[in-house]
Amino acid sequence: MTNEQLKQEDLKYIFHPCTQMKDHETLPMTPIKKGKGVYLEDFDGNKYIDAISSWWVNTLGHSNEFINEKIKAQLDDLEHVLLAGFTHAPAVKLAKKLVEITPKGLDKVFFADNGSSGIEVALKMSFHYFRNKGEVRPYFVSLENSYHGETMGALSVSDMGLYKDIYNPMLIETLQAKAPSNQTIHEANLALEDMEKLLKKRANEISAVIVEPLLQCAGLMNMYHPYYITGLRELCTKYGVFMIADEVAVGFGRTGKLFAVEHANITPDFMVMSKGLTAGYLPLSIVMLTSHIYDAFYCEYDVKGTKAFLHSHSYTGNPLACTAALASIEYLEKFNIIEENQEKIEFISKQLKRFENLPNVENIRQIGMVGAFDLKGYKSEDRIGLEVYKYALSKGVLLRPLANVIYFMTPYVITKDELKKVFDVAYDAIKLL
Ligand SMILES: Cc1ncc(COP(=O)(O)O)c(C=O)c1O
Repeated sequence: MTNEQLKQEDLKYIFHPCTQMKDHETLPMTPIKKGKGVYLEDFDGNKYIDAISSWWVNTLGHSNEFINEKIKAQLDDLEHVLLAGFTHAPAVKLAKKLVEITPKGLDKVFFADNGSSGIEVALKMSFHYFRNKGEVRPYFVSLENSYHGETMGALSVSDMGLYKDIYNPMLIETLQAKAPSNQTIHEANLALEDMEKLLKKRANEISAVIVEPLLQCAGLMNMYHPYYITGLRELCTKYGVFMIADEVAVGFGRTGKLFAVEHANITPDFMVMSKGLTAGYLPLSIVMLTSHIYDAFYCEYDVKGTKAFLHSHSYTGNPLACTAALASIEYLEKFNIIEENQEKIEFISKQLKRFENLPNVENIRQIGMVGAFDLKGYKSEDRIGLEVYKYALSKGVLLRPLANVIYFMTPYVITKDELKKVFDVAYDAIKLL
C-alpha cells in the first residue's frame, strides 16, 4: 500500500471519530504504517513524534519490545474467554497487582473494556448500591467543564457542550458543581463551598460525585490543586455519597505520581482506569472499588437478579489486554519510570517558560508530564488549533490542540532532545500565526 492509496480508500469507507468528514476535502488524512517509540511513520518514511500519546493512551512508546513479547507469548495460550464463570491468569494477576498498587482500601476489581464503559460501571454500581440498601438516589454530581466519555451515562455526567448539547434531550438529568478553574487553593476552596452547598441540600438523592482528579483533560486541560480532592473526599464522606475518581486519562503516571489521587493522599470509593492501563496497546478498563461496596451485592441468588450487578461487556477482561496491562506495570516498575520522569517534568517546565515571551500565549500551566497554554486573541471560527496542528505535522510533530489550547502529553519514553523538538516546533508554529 502507498500513502495515496490509503488516503483514497480510507475516505471511501471510513467515518472517522470526532471529525467533520467534509474537512478532509482539503485536510489530508495521515496514513501510518508503523510506530516505534515516540515515532509514527507513514508509507513514504515520514516520521512524526506522537506528542499527544495517540489520544493520551500511549505511555511507554509504540511497539515497545518488552510489552510486545509478553503479548505474543499470551497469544499462543489464550486470546479470549468470557469472564463470567471462567477466569484466567492475566486477569487474576492483574487484579492482584492493582489491589497492591492502588490506594489502600480499593480491594476489588471489576473489568470492562474502555474508559466510557468503565464510567458506566461506576455510575450504575453506585446507584445500585443504594438500591440494595433500600434507597433510590437517581442523581450524580459532576464538575463543570468535565469530560467522562461519550456513551449515554458518561456523556450525561460530562459538561462539554460541543459533544453533549445535541443529545441533551435523550440524556439522564445530572447535577453540576463548580470546578476549580486554576491551580490555586483559593479556587479549590470556592469550588468546595459550591459542592458543599449542593450536597447539603440534596445528598439523599445523590449516589455519587464523579471527578477527574487534578486535570480536566478534554476540558481544555484545566488543572487544579490537590487540595480540592482532599476536600472533596471529606465532603463525600460527610454527606454519605460515593466519590468516583475518573483516572482514565491521568492514571499510570501522567501527573507525576502513579495515580493522581495520590497527590491528595486519599482513597476514593471507586477508581476508574483505562488508557495508560495497557500503555495504549489494547482496550481495557477497570473499576476499583472497596470491599464495603462489593459486600452490598453479595447475597443469596435471587431469580430476579435485583441485587446482583448484572453488567457485562463481551470483551471484559480480555487476556491479551490484561497481559498488556501487566507488562506495562512491570515496565513502569522495572525501569523506575515514574521517578525517571521527574527530570523530564523539570525539563518540560523549562521549555514551557520560553512561551512566556510570546504575546499570543497566556495561562501557561503544567502538571507532571502534561504541559499546556492558551492562545489568546483568536475567535473559535479562526480554528487556530487546526493551523498549529497542520504546521506541526508538516514539521514531524503530532500536536492536536483542543480549540485554542496547545498541550503536550508525550509518551514517557521520549528523550530530552525529542521533547526539545516538540517544543521548538510548537514555538515556531505560534510565532508564525
Ligand atoms: C477523563 C476521561 N474519562 C473517560 C474517558 C473515556 O474513555 P474512552 O475514550 O476510552 O471511552 C476519557 C477519554 O478521553 C477521559 O479523558
